[in-house]
Amino acid sequence: MNSCRQNLDRLWFPFTCSEDLRNFPPALIERGEGVYVYDNNGKRYLDAIGSWWVSILGHCHPRINAAVKRQVDRLEHVMMAGFVTGPALDLSQKLSEILPGELSKIFYSDNGSTSVEIAMKIALQFRAATGSRRRFFVSLGSGYHGDTLGAMSVGGIMSYHGLFHELFKKQLFTLSPYCYRCPVGKDAETCNADCMDSLEEILKNHGDDIAACIFEPMVQGACGMRIYPAVVLRKIFTLCEKYGIITIADEVAAGFARTGRMFACEHAGVVPDIMCIAKGLTGGYLPMAATIVKEKIYEVFCGNHLQNRELAHGHTFTGNPVAAAAACETLSILKEMRIPASLESLAEFFRKAVFSLNELECVDGIRTIGTIGAFEIVSDRKTKAAFSEDKRIPFRIAVRALDKGVIIRPLGNVLYFVPAYIITHEQIETMISVTKEAIKEIVYE
Ligand SMILES: Cc1ncc(COP(=O)(O)O)c(C=O)c1O
Repeated sequence: MNSCRQNLDRLWFPFTCSEDLRNFPPALIERGEGVYVYDNNGKRYLDAIGSWWVSILGHCHPRINAAVKRQVDRLEHVMMAGFVTGPALDLSQKLSEILPGELSKIFYSDNGSTSVEIAMKIALQFRAATGSRRRFFVSLGSGYHGDTLGAMSVGGIMSYHGLFHELFKKQLFTLSPYCYRCPVGKDAETCNADCMDSLEEILKNHGDDIAACIFEPMVQGACGMRIYPAVVLRKIFTLCEKYGIITIADEVAAGFARTGRMFACEHAGVVPDIMCIAKGLTGGYLPMAATIVKEKIYEVFCGNHLQNRELAHGHTFTGNPVAAAAACETLSILKEMRIPASLESLAEFFRKAVFSLNELECVDGIRTIGTIGAFEIVSDRKTKAAFSEDKRIPFRIAVRALDKGVIIRPLGNVLYFVPAYIITHEQIETMISVTKEAIKEIVYE
């Protein structure tokens, strides 16, 4: 146990303050099965957030395990320059079966942030190659696209990105389509995507300088699962078309049926010029991402070695065959399970269960899309005021729920659920009843 403590002290954890690490040391997880993970004392936790939204088919899926094992015994890796592997090729076939519209050229990388960096570089290099001086990006206020510098420059969560905006390049930001606290004072009945007038304003004034617009389609995840209507997404596309702006849909979190459609852009019937995918791609097994572009974008990168048109980008593990094997098996399972169509009734049960939290006076702003559910913790529903920050109510609710064996995490004042698609009705009921108990105990006792 002592050496475990020492080893723990050697580690630096993401998004974790050191005092919390001391007061709430992480559970030592030894194994997983379905929606559950188990710690070294045998305690079982229902993973209600799919381990940061990646575990779409549950932990330790026997078929994905077998696919990974098979691949490891054949080949662990070979660079994807001058070489390619069967799994990387098969994955391109499987992706092409589900990709919308003319999205056709696939560039593999390792994680969501790199898929965004690549999308941004593609947009910039495309502009340069076509003789344009457009060098900036516009993105949605409060958006999140990852933690590398390029991705942060288009990130709008000031507590994460503010410092870096000061030090590095800052891009342009629209209002956030935050329906619970609508920035232009509309509600569901009166909404006409008016928040995106802020996009038009930016494009009118700076359109000639803007290479691309990047956005999380239908739901801004990390800023608190801000689910917004399709009309907003459609307006983004209409404006980008009007002003000749490349669209980059960051489907890193929303892709692979999380919102009830295979890709969230489908809710608005739109196809981006560039799409970023990651998280669910390998079923949560291995880091892998892809940036996918339309042929008309790729064409600009074609030429001979004297023309220097190729994309100046690569990662050591680009196209890793073990990750690709996990991704192939994940996509086969999704297909066999007829996902997303077959998720409809689960999503409806999930929606009703999440909305039952409404019985608690301190819960407001409940929203769901597909298998994403979120709600706000408020001290007063009328004013929508949050509890004072020093009380750390959402954080303490999550800690209490964890004690009771359900993993949820706060995002500011928001708590959310993003479970695996194999979650049962009974497990959803447990997830909700434990959350209710935790809320009652922290807020009312
Ligand atoms: C929409 C979106 N884009 C990009 C990222 C970054 O992905 P990664 O953490 O794999 O770098 C995330 C991560 O949560 C995300 O939600």
